[in-house]
Amino acid sequence: MKILGIETTCDETAAAVVARLDGDEPSGHILSNEVLSQIAEHAAYGGVVPEIAARAHVEVLDRLIERALDKAGTTLAELDGIAVAAGPGLIGGVLVGLVTAKSLALVSRKPLLAINHLEAHALTPRLTDGIAFPYLLLLASGGHTQLVAVRGVGDYVRLGGTIDDAIGEAFDKVAKLLGLGYPGGPEVERMAEAGNPERFALPRPMLGRREADFSLSGLKTALRIEAEKIAPLARTDIADLCASFQAAVVDVVADRVRVALRGFDAVAGRPTALVASGGVAANGAIRRALAAQAGQVGLSFVAPPLPLCGDNGAMIAWAGIERLRAGLVDDLTAPARARWPF
Ligand code: KG4
Ligand code: ZN
Repeated sequence: MKILGIETTCDETAAAVVARLDGDEPSGHILSNEVLSQIAEHAAYGGVVPEIAARAHVEVLDRLIERALDKAGTTLAELDGIAVAAGPGLIGGVLVGLVTAKSLALVSRKPLLAINHLEAHALTPRLTDGIAFPYLLLLASGGHTQLVAVRGVGDYVRLGGTIDDAIGEAFDKVAKLLGLGYPGGPEVERMAEAGNPERFALPRPMLGRREADFSLSGLKTALRIEAEKIAPLARTDIADLCASFQAAVVDVVADRVRVALRGFDAVAGRPTALVASGGVAANGAIRRALAAQAGQVGLSFVAPPLPLCGDNGAMIAWAGIERLRAGLVDDLTAPARARWPF
């Protein structure tokens, strides 16, 4: 089984071909994975500009798909389906990907798989590590933060989520506040490496609460107040602020995951693993805390390799394979969705 995956929901244009062999082969094979980041086009604005994103997707998507097929050594006719992220995301970009995928599905008479971008992040660890259901997932990106019991394809139980900012969004806002680049996560992490995490006593919102929810906007405000007190900021101040912020996030994540692990049994039995996915799963400090957390309860910790943590086409293609195998095919009326709860 071989599927093309198309991703255009935010600021990455991506196309990939993923195969899955029949038989006892547990996971997929990435035959090609082309990603074109628009970061340079948005950097001057400190965030993603939807109109610029949609136009940039239009300009490169067809060539990127051609390249993904070439590199995979395959053709449209040889595919088993066309998968595309149909949301949630910036609607202009989503439409570019969806209309392209529908056209390809129509001319090639292949099944269309309209994928929820979040579901694709959630299933990526099965592509990379072949892990079995059920598992506890921390899905953390620029727009979403959720703890989910993944019981099967299309079978997800939400155990907690953020009541305000997503974790990636908090990193991005802190970066902006401190004059660092976009996207903020990698910048803050890099600065934090040289900083003192104990210099600023930032709050740990929601710590100890019985529900596995997150709240991050208060943490960001507390950081802004500390930054204002010591302005103008020297480079060491910025490093210390980043380190203190990241340490607070790590403590909160570890605590919330502990609570979710406790609630997991009741909805899904014993998990096979603790899994992190989405752009924030690229953060080394968060990965280390989650690995320690999993170790304490005798679970393994799984996170996709860095290039597959952020947005990419392979995760969409893989979700397409999982859904096609489960008989969950879409037709050409599948809508583009700016919001799409998962
Ligand atoms: O999944 P993703 O590529 O796109 C969305 O669907 O949102 O996630 C992007 C988010 C951004 O907010 C970015 O700042 C964050 O992931 N991120 C990180 C790191 N790398 C990316 N956050 C913390 N530490 C990182 N190393
Ligand atoms: Zn994403």
